[in-house]
Amino acid sequence: MKSFYEAIGILNKDKKEKDQVSILLNTPFEMLEYYNKNHILPDSGVLCRIEQKLGISRFDIMLKMGIYTQELKEHISNTPSLLSLNKEINITNNIPIELAFETKLGKLYHGDCCDLLSTIGNETFDLIFADPPFNLDKLYPSNINDNLKQSEYIGWCEKWLDECIRTLKVGGSLFIWNLPKWNTYLSKYLNERLTFRHWISADIKYSLPINGRLYPSHYSLLYYVKGEKPKTFKPDRLPMEVCSKCFNEIKDYGGYKNKMNPLGISLTDVWYDIPPVRHSKYKARKDANELSVKLLDRIIEMSSNIGDTIFDPFGGAGTTYITAEIKQRKWIGVEIGPLEDIINRFQNIQTDRSLILKYRDKYNHLFPPVIEKKRIEKNLWTCKKEE
Ligand SMILES: C[S@@+](CC[C@H](N)C(=O)[O-])C[C@H]1O[C@@H](n2cnc3c(N)ncnc32)[C@H](O)[C@@H]1O
Repeated sequence: MKSFYEAIGILNKDKKEKDQVSILLNTPFEMLEYYNKNHILPDSGVLCRIEQKLGISRFDIMLKMGIYTQELKEHISNTPSLLSLNKEINITNNIPIELAFETKLGKLYHGDCCDLLSTIGNETFDLIFADPPFNLDKLYPSNINDNLKQSEYIGWCEKWLDECIRTLKVGGSLFIWNLPKWNTYLSKYLNERLTFRHWISADIKYSLPINGRLYPSHYSLLYYVKGEKPKTFKPDRLPMEVCSKCFNEIKDYGGYKNKMNPLGISLTDVWYDIPPVRHSKYKARKDANELSVKLLDRIIEMSSNIGDTIFDPFGGAGTTYITAEIKQRKWIGVEIGPLEDIINRFQNIQTDRSLILKYRDKYNHLFPPVIEKKRIEKNLWTCKKEE
């Protein structure tokens, strides 16, 4: 397999030649070095410029680097001769995209996310969160086919992922929420295009026990960054878990309790405190697999700043959009099915705002004020008592 530089015909270590290529491709030298050092396939925007400026097709580069898309694999298996491979992959079905709703910070479109993405410039978004359909043969109001062949589902995911990667800023973060099974495939794909940060397990039971299988009890949340490192990373700290009756700590911290950070416990890659949104009375859309605002609040807080732009290609009940709005981030959304529930949610934004405030109240101190008071009353240790 060839390195990125070899694949584009840079064979010597001459910095001057690399600088010239960097100018020609309008891509920072450091990014070219990053692709080369980490065996990363450039995003489709850069691949397009390589095609235009250096005359090397993206498929040549993929073949030389040994990094294939599902579409390329299928194309190869249907091609009698590999020499005829210079065919463009058409990633959009050109259905007109319609702006359906706007706020001061956000825009919600009706249509297919790939069509919308094809209208968006390179390196636009600071944070992308995606919660696609899981291909579980679920009936969606938009009647999308949720029962694709495995290779078709993965091929479809690769299409929108390529566009997400292209439209993500360098240093921007990409989060993918899916079943562990699908995320094993998507993770392999992303490892060759972005930098892996974490596989986060969100401890939520999502189906009934199945004979002969372990009880499925976590969703996978993939966390990747474009380029070497994230431009924003400020995870919340969580409170110490205490018994709701006696207010004693639940875990044994040994002799280290008094050395704990008064701002709380470091966030780990297992999230056990994300509630499912099950009861229809709490759901913004009855038939949507709606996620908790607690999840989106945590991701948005960790990986973006006020004024940043967030994108979610799969609107559902609009959890990402409402959370972004409340947290003063700009947002772009799209949903292929009905939009009324998302729009109605914005008419009633106070409900989600109060919920987020309630969650945030508990973060970034070891004991939230109410718990601290109780522990003082019971003569239990608090950071304050130590001072
Ligand atoms: C799992 S739900 C997302 C739920 C959302 N995260 C929430 O918390 O409300 C997936 C959504 O993606 C939508 N969808 C499926 N294919 C799409 C496409 N190609 N473009 C835009 N939306 C799509 C479905 O209609 C569905 O509402």
